[in-house]
Amino acid sequence: MPNPSLLILPGDGIGPEVMAEVRKVIDWFGANRGLSFEVGEDLVGGAAYDAHGTPLTDDTMALAQSVDAVLLGAVGGPNYDDLDFSVKPERGLLRLRKEMDLFANLRPAQCFDALADFSSLKREVVAGLDIMIVRELTSGVYFGEPRGIVKEGNERVGINTQRYTESEIARVARAAFDLAQKRGGKLCSMEKANVMESGILWREVVTEVGRAEYPDVELSHMYADAGAMQLTRWPKQFDVIVTDNLFGDLLSDLAAMLTGSLGMLPSASLGAPMANGRPKALYEPVHGSAPDIAGMGKANPIACILSFAMALRYSFDAGAEATRLERAVETVLADGVRTADLMQTEGGTPATTAEMGDAVVAALSAGG
Ligand code: IPM
Ligand code: MG
Repeated sequence: MPNPSLLILPGDGIGPEVMAEVRKVIDWFGANRGLSFEVGEDLVGGAAYDAHGTPLTDDTMALAQSVDAVLLGAVGGPNYDDLDFSVKPERGLLRLRKEMDLFANLRPAQCFDALADFSSLKREVVAGLDIMIVRELTSGVYFGEPRGIVKEGNERVGINTQRYTESEIARVARAAFDLAQKRGGKLCSMEKANVMESGILWREVVTEVGRAEYPDVELSHMYADAGAMQLTRWPKQFDVIVTDNLFGDLLSDLAAMLTGSLGMLPSASLGAPMANGRPKALYEPVHGSAPDIAGMGKANPIACILSFAMALRYSFDAGAEATRLERAVETVLADGVRTADLMQTEGGTPATTAEMGDAVVAALSAGG
């Protein structure tokens, strides 16, 4: 069997720096655990625009379709703010999601004990928190037609359309139910069935899928606004949350902040199984390109490293190796290694991006 293939798309801002640390981790697994990958690298976002005038070339798109998993850093930056909408860096990421049909976006929010005091909420509210948000990623208002800015009489009208088919709802619901079965057995679905027809259909379809296929999972429903409130009030009431593209975008940022730092959170975007049985997959940190600190060695590489752990688990059937990597991260945090985003007070010298990556590799070696 040939080695599994990985396409690395570092992207913009801090993307290349954090990805360099992931490379160290990938190399460690090759050298020490017999887990080697064919690694390719290409451009996405502003970096691709600078080189080719588009945030994602057709060649890169084809490459992404052909590999076992894509690992993405981050896209965007102030240099690109004035570009036409169609070539903005974000369009590259959205094209990858859409054309690879990555409909299930898994965003875990886990609070590491060593960081419980960094949360904006009280320690007892967040300590031990471990929830999973499953965000629908290829439909809804992000992609619905009609869309655009049109002229009506004397004024312009901005239009976007929230649209969900039954099958789109059912497949993301199944992904979430499957996860709930493997975790705490609870799923909460969030929409706005009180004001949106798409929300009414969402609630109906999730209920039907649950009744017919997952009677062992405890299903509940919440309006997404109340869900935001409950997430800040007592987040530990949740296990898995499933929601649409836009609500999922908002709720996952909210959940991320509960854990203390956006620099810690990974994500997996999964599609249908390929011929080899692996799901189409893209892994990326939840954080953005952080242009204000790009190139300074200040960025926290943990979210990107943990995204690779998710790749080990969901693409490469290497759950035990994923756990090994997650433990290494926990060890490093418990040992007090801190990048600047994880330092509460002034004083003390933060670890650089590279020092954090090296510490994770050292912890892997010590534990392996
Ligand atoms: C995310 C981001 C993206 C989104 C942007 C960069 C297009 O906010 O992945 O959550 O809105 O989906
Ligand atoms: Mg977002």
